[in-house]
Amino acid sequence: MTSKHEDPILLTPGPLTTSLQTKQAQLRDFGSRDSAFIEITASLITQLNDIVHGGDSHACVLMQGSGTFSVEAALGTLVPETGHVLVCINGEYGKRIARICDVIGRRHRILQTAEDQPTTAKMVEETLAADPSLTHVSIVHCETSTGILNPLDEIAAVVATHQRGLFIDAMSSFGAIEIDARKIRFDGVVAASGKCLESVPGMGFAILRREALEQCQGNCHSLSLDLYDQWQSYTRTRQWRFTPPTTVVAALAEALQQFRAEGGVAGRGARYRKNCETLMNGMEKLGFVSFLPRAIQAPIITTWHAPADPNYNFNAFYDKVRARGFTLYPGKLTQVETFRVGCIGAIGAAEMRQAVDAIAAIVEEMGITQLKPAARASAAA
Ligand SMILES: Cc1ncc(COP(=O)(O)O)c(C=O)c1O
Repeated sequence: MTSKHEDPILLTPGPLTTSLQTKQAQLRDFGSRDSAFIEITASLITQLNDIVHGGDSHACVLMQGSGTFSVEAALGTLVPETGHVLVCINGEYGKRIARICDVIGRRHRILQTAEDQPTTAKMVEETLAADPSLTHVSIVHCETSTGILNPLDEIAAVVATHQRGLFIDAMSSFGAIEIDARKIRFDGVVAASGKCLESVPGMGFAILRREALEQCQGNCHSLSLDLYDQWQSYTRTRQWRFTPPTTVVAALAEALQQFRAEGGVAGRGARYRKNCETLMNGMEKLGFVSFLPRAIQAPIITTWHAPADPNYNFNAFYDKVRARGFTLYPGKLTQVETFRVGCIGAIGAAEMRQAVDAIAAIVEEMGITQLKPAARASAAA
């Protein structure tokens, strides 16, 4: 893997470490109407749709901005003002969907589980059966605030049986964990450039079921986030509706070539699983305790309990690990103190081992001997 590691290795859920070729692809000045740029855009649309086997029954619509822009765009476009969304929540990004529904005025009901408990198909089934007013269900495939994997295929099956629309936030799973439109029915799946596709941040996209999308004219609360308009305008002109993020588009096209060369979802997923296993084995050997059991852990980002040792302090720990060339990520949980370590980006098992070595050295330097979290440390005493 060619990446220039003068920058730290980003063990975060994005922006993440990109390959040198992906960085270099940005060194161009494309005009938005250049035929070369128009061809790149067309090829992105086809390739992104192909990743989920969307075929002719689905359309890929690109959107400027960070991932949240695309989540908001897809919800605002797919769910009419009269709609009612069942928002499955087991972390921050599920909560963000509920917040978006609040802000854009879409009625919603929350199906909440603990941060270490997947949403189950049974819960969704029971809620849908009990409330016929629900028109849509939203699920976060990999809830990046912990790294928990929700059982998408089972949930999609019950949503399909109940004939409701399914919205999938696949921001941190798209390209690494299979989503197959030939096997599951969804109205929209959303992701972004700077996650498992290993490009730079700056644009997102939605793969939408055409039959659903065709009904969405006039739904959206926003001019710029209207995916129906974005789709119609692209279909007419083959151009982005508003100024495209040209360098981000060029980088994503390059990153997708590397994605294909690696063997697509299967190849990328395999590398991330190896990264995750290497990291988890190493961290557990040091004595850290994972927040999630491995059975529900996606190979995207891992969450670790903060050590109970009084010498531990996240900011000092973070700075020292950073000085050794690795960027960790703070925890995002309200109840327990944690930190996160990502496994995605243009990195492999060697980098994961180096990261564990750096963490081991800092643990020793800070004099941290009690690595278990407070509750477990006192239970063991
Ligand atoms: C599952 C999920 N949804 C939504 C987002 C929001 O994306 P952004 O921060 O790019 O707006 C993220 C970001 O990491 C995410 O992991």
